[in-house]
Amino acid sequence: MAKLNQTFFLILSICYFLSPALTAATAASRAGASNKAVNFIQSSCKTTTYPAVCFHSLSAYANAIQTSPKRLAETALAVTLSRAQSTKLFVSRLTRFKGLKKREVEAIKDCVEEINDTIDRLTKSVQEMKLCGSAKNQEQFAFHMSNAQTWTSAALTDENTCSDGFSGRVTDGRIKNSVRARIVNVGHETSNALSLINAFAKKMAGSFSFNHHFLASLLITITITTLKSVHTTTTNTEFVKSSCTFTTYPRLCVTSLSTQSSLIQTSHKLIAHAALNITLASAKATSAMMVRLSSSSRLKPREVSAMRDCVEELGDTLEELRKSIGEMGQLSGSNYEVYMSDIQTWVSAALTDENTCSDGFEGDDMNGKVKVLVRGRILVIAHLTSNALALINHFASIHG
Ligand SMILES: *[C@@H]1O[C@H](CO)[C@@H](O)[C@H](O)[C@H]1NC(C)=O
Ligand SMILES: *[C@@H]1O[C@H](CO)[C@@H](O)[C@H](O)[C@H]1NC(C)=O
Repeated sequence: MAKLNQTFFLILSICYFLSPALTAATAASRAGASNKAVNFIQSSCKTTTYPAVCFHSLSAYANAIQTSPKRLAETALAVTLSRAQSTKLFVSRLTRFKGLKKREVEAIKDCVEEINDTIDRLTKSVQEMKLCGSAKNQEQFAFHMSNAQTWTSAALTDENTCSDGFSGRVTDGRIKNSVRARIVNVGHETSNALSLINAFAKKMAGSFSFNHHFLASLLITITITTLKSVHTTTTNTEFVKSSCTFTTYPRLCVTSLSTQSSLIQTSHKLIAHAALNITLASAKATSAMMVRLSSSSRLKPREVSAMRDCVEELGDTLEELRKSIGEMGQLSGSNYEVYMSDIQTWVSAALTDENTCSDGFEGDDMNGKVKVLVRGRILVIAHLTSNALALINHFASIHG
């Protein structure tokens, strides 16, 4: 009985001494977790282009983010989307100003429409990030991830165009500054979100690649033991086919790249490089064709001017593709991050220019045959560019 009492006392004492210690420990771990989260956000933001903006807008969500790169990227996207929405509201209210010129109202409307496109693209990116979360294997993950990257980079380019539109008279003084500041801010938030998405993609590629490499080496072992020789050409063609499943236009992808399969071998980098080369060659040929067509005497003045605009925009596309190909050829371990993000930005910029170009050929008074011809060629370039971007994003996502 005495022994039992002693034991009871011992337990009581332990409880007594432990309880304040326990409370303190819990408090410390709570504060520690929060500190850890804040530090995580700070160090992740350092890798973005606008670290101060990044930390300022994301540190408020430290408790929800903790140290998850996925939640960090998702929160960055959500914050960007909500900024874009409030900017749209702000800019659309400007049309209520009295005494605006027609041209100024037009500029405001164009800007609202472009922010609207940005919102649309960011919304799609948010959806793709959600699908990344429920991906069952690396292929699914890489597919949704490259879509999220593509939509986010597409959202990036429109903002620049919108703030260019505000160089007219509306833009005297305070309104101009206020609109530009908001648009620039949405641009910076979008750029940061893209960096954080890319960082998350890279991290996940590492975690998937264990399984992938394990499976690959298992497969290779089985292949080697069952087959003495593997037909290399078949392997190369299969690689092009399987890589093309990540693109939006897989049939065009296979058609355009299968002739290069012996050069590409099974390299994700070379297939992205080859896709860029082919897109550039096609854009060059179309540009030359349009220069020839625009000097044809059978075209109406409006058609000639649409054609010239298109040639000018294709010139930008050519420039962006050339720069991308240049950096793709010089990609190395030390410049990888910087060059890869340049390439992704330029190729997405090339993508949107082509859309504007084919928009110029809308309208019923345009010559049927010329319109169909030009739109067809532009569409092929746009599809080739979209495929090249998907292959670049895929290469970036598995680069570890
Ligand atoms: C914005 O986009 C949505 C859907 O994409 C569309 O329904 C709406 O009409 C657009 N609004 C403006 C002002 O362009
Ligand atoms: C792409 O084009 C460059 C220059 O024309 C060439 O050196 C390179 O081998 C090509 N690469 C691929 C993968 O097609």
